[in-house]
Amino acid sequence: MMVNPESIPVVNAWNEWDPLREIVVGSATGACFEPTEPGNRPQVRDGSGAPFPKGLKPDEAIARANEELAGLVALLQAQGVTVRRPEPHDFGRSLKTPAFEVENQYCSVCPRDVMITLGNEILEATMSRRARYFEYEPYRKLVYEYWEADPRVSWTVAPKPTMADSMYRKDFWDWPMEERHARMHAHEYCITQDEVVFDAADMSRFGKDVIVQESMTTNRAGIRWLKRTLEPKGFRVHPVHFPLDYFPSHIDCTFVPLRPGLVLANPERPIREDELPMFTENGWKLVEAPQPVLSNEEMPAYCQSSKWLSMNVLSVSPHTVICEEQEKPLQDLLSSLDFEVLTVPFRHVFEYGGSLHCATWDIRREGTREDYFPSLPYQPVA
Ligand code: ARG
Repeated sequence: MMVNPESIPVVNAWNEWDPLREIVVGSATGACFEPTEPGNRPQVRDGSGAPFPKGLKPDEAIARANEELAGLVALLQAQGVTVRRPEPHDFGRSLKTPAFEVENQYCSVCPRDVMITLGNEILEATMSRRARYFEYEPYRKLVYEYWEADPRVSWTVAPKPTMADSMYRKDFWDWPMEERHARMHAHEYCITQDEVVFDAADMSRFGKDVIVQESMTTNRAGIRWLKRTLEPKGFRVHPVHFPLDYFPSHIDCTFVPLRPGLVLANPERPIREDELPMFTENGWKLVEAPQPVLSNEEMPAYCQSSKWLSMNVLSVSPHTVICEEQEKPLQDLLSSLDFEVLTVPFRHVFEYGGSLHCATWDIRREGTREDYFPSLPYQPVA
């Protein structure tokens, strides 16, 4: 295989903002409603207490989401970005492993949750929910293609947890609000600490530094695994916490870096006090996102994510950001910060739990590994 050593490796993304060359955009084809399981208790938003639907999503819901995903594809292509899509997958099929059974799987709308590019490496997450156990499959053909195309590309698959009953804290979903408040600093959620568990979307990339949110979908063993796997490769892995988020899952509606020195921060979910100096002492500014246009009650009935999907933006470069079409207050803020703001309608994708960042997986951006935190205290591997 002839690879020009001067060229950008086929897989190359060190942060969330460098100029984008190639990306995977998710697809709603074959999507199912997420099943109730120990790691997830989906609820209809209208407050009716109606049972959450099961099985395949209706054709119209899939068509509406696919239309908006196609709009994002077209917008990215118009920016000169190569766009790839997942392979079809039978999400309606039930799963039975030695440790669990689940009636159906979920979808391939949010590759971000499963897959992450860390420099020239592709990493597949363990995942934290049964219905998402095999969610890497729609991306494997692409992974093989990238891996075969360039010897500089490496590929790591995290150990699969059992997802047995014992991996979960079953009563988590029934804790009363006061108990949640009391436990907020303990950071104990629906997964126990016994096995290595993480979703890829709990990470955010800042060159040499990667932050990882401890959450309902990533536990401390998962963060230790990431540290021991990535630190020998020259990364520094930092656990982060947002104590006011009682149901944390995936960092990209909470803390979103936009360019060197600038993070879009969720005003209702401040970062833990002792974790802020890493940013402020290295010249980073946090700018608070404005209130989203929709309230939590106005989000689509089957959407399990919060109104803060508003801030789930996708960077095409450190100067250009894609934002949901109706999020005018955020668009205005970004313009005032000297970003060119591109917009695309995306609200029908919300019911699949994500917006523009969730629904994508960046494969290649220009740029190399930089140190954006030159004054960091030394942190030994935990
Ligand atoms: N838990 C987040 C919220 O409700 C949603 C995160 C969605 N991100 C994702 N990568 N699927 O605010």
